[in-house]
Parts: sequence; C-alpha cells; structure tokens
Amino acid sequence: MAYKIAVLPGDGIGPEIVAQAKKVCDAITKKFGHEFEYTEALVGATAIDQVGDPYPADTHELCMNSDAVLFGAIGHPKFDNDPSAKVRPEQGLLKMRKTLGLYANLRPVNTFKSLIHKSPLKTELVDGADFMCIRELTGGIYFGRPQGRSEDGQTAYDSCVYTAEEIERIIRLGFEYAGKRRKKLTIVDKANVLATSRLWREIGQKVAPDYPDIEVEYMFVDNAAMQIITWPKRFDVMVTENMFGDILTDEASVISGSMGMLPSASIGVHTSVFEPIHGSYPQAAGKNIANPCATVLSAAMMFEYAFGMMKEGALIREAVDQSLEAGVVTEDIADGKKAYSTSEVGDWLAEYIEKA
Ligand code: IPM
Ligand code: MG
Repeated sequence: MAYKIAVLPGDGIGPEIVAQAKKVCDAITKKFGHEFEYTEALVGATAIDQVGDPYPADTHELCMNSDAVLFGAIGHPKFDNDPSAKVRPEQGLLKMRKTLGLYANLRPVNTFKSLIHKSPLKTELVDGADFMCIRELTGGIYFGRPQGRSEDGQTAYDSCVYTAEEIERIIRLGFEYAGKRRKKLTIVDKANVLATSRLWREIGQKVAPDYPDIEVEYMFVDNAAMQIITWPKRFDVMVTENMFGDILTDEASVISGSMGMLPSASIGVHTSVFEPIHGSYPQAAGKNIANPCATVLSAAMMFEYAFGMMKEGALIREAVDQSLEAGVVTEDIADGKKAYSTSEVGDWLAEYIEKA
C-alpha cells in the first residue's frame, strides 16, 4: 500500500527545500521498501497569484485525503508591505491549520555537535540543550473574534479566546510527551495579566494529579523568554498557547545555531503536517542557497510521527548529522568555509542514505 503524501511547496525557498526533502524520502523509501505517492498542490502567495485563494479547496481536499502533508513555507514581501491587502498568504496557513484540526505543533529544540560554535549563546549553556516546545495551534489570539477596526479606523482589536476543552487537550498532550522524555513539564502563560492564561493554569492544576510521575511547573512567558537563552537545559517539555509558542520558538531556534535546522510537526484531527519552522526567506528564493535541513528533518518527523517508522527517521537524522560533520552545509552555517548549494546538500543526504 502506498502512503499518500500531499506536497505543498508554497512560496519563496519552499519549492527548493521541499525538493530536497523529497529526494531524501525517496532514498529512504527505496532503502526500506516503502511506497510513497506524492501529489503537489498550491498554497500561499503562489496560490493567490494563480487562483486567488491562499488555501484553495482542491488543496484542502488533497490534504484531507493524504496520510501526511509535507509543507515548505509561505509568505511574500509584497503582502508584508501592504497592510491593506485583502487576501494574505498567511491566511492560507491559518485556514489549513484550523480546517485540518492541527491543534498541536511540536517544535523540538536541540543542538548539533558540529554547529555549537555557531550558536550566539555560550557553548557551555547550549551544549546538551534538548527540549520540546508544544505550541497550541488552532486557538488563541490568532483565531479569536472579534478582530478588526472600529468604523473610523482609529481603533484596532484582536481577541484571545480559549475554551477549557482546547486547553485540556493540549496540556494533556504536554504531560504525555513529558512522560516519554525526562518527565518535566513547563506550562507557559501570562496568568498574572490574562484571563485565558488563568484558565490555562487552572486546567493545568486540574489535570496534573492524573500524571503523578511528571514534575510540573508554571512559568510566565516573559520569564520563559529569558530562561530559554540563559538556561535552556532546564527545559524538557514546554506547552504554551499559540502566540507565545510562535515567539518563543523563533527565539529558541537560535540555540541550535541556525533557524534553518529546526523542523516541526503539526498533529491533529484529520492528518498531520510537517514543515520547517522558518519562513519563505524571499531574498534567497530561486538562488539554490537556502538550508534544506529543517525540511529534511521535518520529513524525519513525518516518518516517526505519521508512520511510526523510527529507523527511517533515525537514518535521516544521522545523515544530517554526518553532513554537518563533513562540512557539506549551506552558507548560513558554512562559517567562511566552502558553502554547498541547497541541491548539493540534498544530493549528499540522499546518497548517504542509499549507501548506509
Ligand atoms: C510560524 C509562522 C506563522 C505563525 C506565520 C507565517 C503565520 O510564523 O509557523 O511560526 O505565526 O504561526
Ligand atoms: Mg513563527
């Protein structure tokens, strides 16, 4: 039986990095005798340009009928610089998250031995840092209504809304992941100011007794932002609401030395989506210079999380580690040494897997 993979390259560097992840998936499926059937679809600015909708119905249909979605990136500067644009690429991503029910975004933060010197933080602080940020993805201020402008245009408002049910499902997931790791859960909120955060904390306290072997702590988001860079090793699993998770994971991505290294998995009700945490990096689009590793590692998460294929995921991780070790890296981490192109890195990884 062939696994159905929806491929959504999106904007900017999306198509280039997704092409490398596909190469790697092909090498893996060949080696392990699996069968993948890929179908591409439009998303983001590219979809707006071609069909006027950043998440067209055809794309949604395809995702709903796929075992997993491999996603590149979305976003284009022509929309960023036009606050009055009626349709925006990001709306496509949000609609996809909401309609596919992707409520949990797993963003692992770790270091790579041969990249540690690239981290803006001191080696002794980051060496061995390894935590999982679980970001709630379909609620909070990203989706709360009302949102908009007053009639005279002089006031704007967003609403942060969470139901107890939404909070409980993600907090329980946090406890479960902590159970599979070092058994420590940090629930990040702003309960000293926000009503939604107080509900998060209340629910955390309600469900904690169900997980007696997990050590749980509650931390304000401003403190968490500070601790991520001053003492990242203190964290094991962190669970937080949508916007806090967006911000904290960009911050945490610098720990590894490059944002181009961090993958993510969005899991949910209908299917799961695997995508790098970085954006569409429009300045690099079409230049064959972007780091494909975050997308390749997202594919590793796809094997592990969507298909339970742990050996396959591990081999992809090993290939990425070895490419770093061998200095087969793109310019963001080349450090003045030879920089390889996006496709050269992809070829090297695929070849490593074939020979392994
Ligand atoms: C992310 C991105 C998105 C978000 C944008 C592109 C809407 O920053 O996935 O972290 O804010 O969720
Ligand atoms: Mg973000």
